[in-house]
Amino acid sequence: MPEWVYLCRIDEVPDGRARTIEVAGARVAVIRDGDSIVVISDLCPHAGGSLGSGWIEEGELLCPLHRWRFRLRDGRCTTLRGNDVHRYPSRIDDRAVWARV
Ligand code: FES
Repeated sequence: MPEWVYLCRIDEVPDGRARTIEVAGARVAVIRDGDSIVVISDLCPHAGGSLGSGWIEEGELLCPLHRWRFRLRDGRCTTLRGNDVHRYPSRIDDRAVWARV
């Protein structure tokens, strides 16, 4: 059953970038877009790249290995249809980032 778990402080993620966090048996990518946070699965469906090492361009996260693109708002892969990543519910409380993992 998914539960809300603490991930990090928003200030620990550089704006426009992401970081990988392992929590509750899952590896997630925490992505920062200004004062907003998106949490998705860290594993790129193409060849297993770490999306936590990616960066944002035009509302999408780019995988660092071969630059597949994933839409921040819903995790949809816009490079090759049918390769979406799971997007976890997340929230920010007093600059602390939480996700339902
Ligand atoms: S592993 Fe992510 S684009 Fe290839």
